Amino acid sequence: MSRKRVAVLISGRGSNMAALIEAAKDNSYPAEIALVLSNRADAGGLLVAQAAGIATATIEHTQFGTDRAGFEQALQATLEKHRIEIVCLAGFMRLLTGEFVGRWQGRILNIHPALLPAFKGLDTHKRALEAGAKVHGATVHFVVPEMDSGPIIAQGAVNVMREDTEEALAARVLTVEHRIYPMALKLVAEGRVRVESGHCVIDGVPVPDASSLVPSA
Ligand code: GRF
Repeated sequence: MSRKRVAVLISGRGSNMAALIEAAKDNSYPAEIALVLSNRADAGGLLVAQAAGIATATIEHTQFGTDRAGFEQALQATLEKHRIEIVCLAGFMRLLTGEFVGRWQGRILNIHPALLPAFKGLDTHKRALEAGAKVHGATVHFVVPEMDSGPIIAQGAVNVMREDTEEALAARVLTVEHRIYPMALKLVAEGRVRVESGHCVIDGVPVPDASSLVPSA
């Protein structure tokens, strides 16, 4: 089966993008990263992608002012030009319209740095600390028009430590992000994820034991 052509959309440093590129270096991985696209010319991830020999594109949203449709038309045209089959949002800081998301339904993924549906939106690590959460983590989900919603494909959890700063917690969650995003993309590219009644059902994946209690005494 041919590998699915994937575009990774970024706005910043692109460490999740780099994790996807790394996974896709293996020829047996069912997806190839065919394009990295940023809405900001200064996104550090563009240089990382170029160094890896991957095609890059920049579509600056600021050029379009309030014309969201114009921005998305340019985005769609670029994705079509590169014959993209799956879109991975990875720190892409633009909201996409229902029309665009609908066109890519079931073929557009996002990673969010929290255990959804908890802590949608920004500043997730700060808010998890403020809430006194004992467990925190990251989620890969299909994108739907409503922000940080949509069927959950994969999640990974970390413990929150008493002495954690926002930065320390973010770094611990990021290591999990880099593991679950390549895993989730693999499952989607292999066609093993289907959505039933708004929930992802995944074929042939053993369910790991995530039943730790915190505190464990
Ligand atoms: C990640 O924490 C991701 O979960 C969130 O934005 C951040 C992007 O980081 N959506 P990077 O650019 O992938 O390093």
